[in-house]
Amino acid sequence: MITNPCVHRAEIARHYDLGSLFYRLLWGPHIHHGLWLTGEESPREAQEELTRQLARRARIRPGEKVLDVGCGLGGSSLWLARHCRCEVLGVTLSGFQRNWAAASALLRGLARQVRFRKLNAEAMDHPAGSWDVLWSIECTEHLFDKAAFFHRAAGWLRPGGRVAICAWLAGPEPLSDQQTRLVQQVCRGFLCPSLASAREYLDWFHQAGLVNARFEDWTPQVMRTWELCQRRTRRLPLKRLAAAVDQRMGQFLEHFETIHRAYATGAMQYGCLLAEKPPEDEHPEHKRR
Ligand SMILES: C[S@@+](CC[C@H](N)C(=O)[O-])C[C@H]1O[C@@H](n2cnc3c(N)ncnc32)[C@H](O)[C@@H]1O
Repeated sequence: MITNPCVHRAEIARHYDLGSLFYRLLWGPHIHHGLWLTGEESPREAQEELTRQLARRARIRPGEKVLDVGCGLGGSSLWLARHCRCEVLGVTLSGFQRNWAAASALLRGLARQVRFRKLNAEAMDHPAGSWDVLWSIECTEHLFDKAAFFHRAAGWLRPGGRVAICAWLAGPEPLSDQQTRLVQQVCRGFLCPSLASAREYLDWFHQAGLVNARFEDWTPQVMRTWELCQRRTRRLPLKRLAAAVDQRMGQFLEHFETIHRAYATGAMQYGCLLAEKPPEDEHPEHKRR
C-alpha cells in the first residue's frame, strides 16, 4: 500500500464542501470515472455505464437496502433508487453534498426511498445484518484504515449480502521507484491517505469473513476520463475557476496528467471489487457449531 501521511480528514471534508459545485459543473451529478464500453458514449453516459455495470454485479433487487458509502452529490444513490427500486442511505463527509443530494431526492420524488446523512464512514455504526448491499464508488481511497472499515462493514451486512466497490488502486506489486512516486503524487493531489492494490482489498475482504471476492480491471475502459478532463481544462477557464474556489482545487487540476500517466504506466489500476457475506448456513461460525 502506498501511504500519504500529509492528509487530514477535515481537509477532505472541506475539499468536498468547497469543490462540489465545481465537480457538478465539470462532471455532473456523478463524481467518478466514466466507463467506455463502445467508445461512442458521451461522458455522462459513460459515468452512468459505470454505475450500471457495478449495479448489475451487485445484483440489487427491488426493496433491498443499500448503504452508499461516500455518496457525493447523490448520483449513485438516486440512480439505484430509480433503476433498481431499492432503498438507499447515502453518507458523506460533506454537509454541502448531503444537502444537495437531499434536495435532488426531493426534486425527483425519491425522498421516501433515499436518505442522506453527513457521517464519517470510519466512525459510524449500524446494527448487525442491517444492509443488503454495501456500495461505494471512489470513496475508499479517502479512508485512513481501510482494513478496519471492511471488517466492521462486513458485520453490517445480512448473510448473503454483497459488497460492490469501484476504486482507484495502486498497481500490482512490485512497483518501481518511479511508479511509486507517481502514486504518491496522486495521493497528495487527490487527498488520499493511501492507495491500496486490488490484492490488498481482496485480502481485507477475506479477513472480514467475506467470500467470492473478486476484482475486475477496468483501467483501459476508464482512462478516457482523464483525457477528457485535460482537454476541458485546456479549453475552458477551469484553472482560474478552481483556484478561485480553493487553492487545493487548483492543485487538483494540475494532477489530471499525473493520474493518466499512472494508469498508462501500470503504477495505478482502476476497477471494481466484489464480495459476498456467506449465507447463514455457510457462515464459518455456524459451520463450527
Ligand atoms: C470522489 S467522491 C465520490 C462520490 C460518489 N460516490 C460518486 O461516485 O459520485 C468521494 C466521496 O467520498 C466521501 N468521503 C470521503 N471520506 C469519507 C468518510 N470518511 N466518510 C464518508 N464519506 C467520505 C466524500 O465526502 C465524497 O462524497
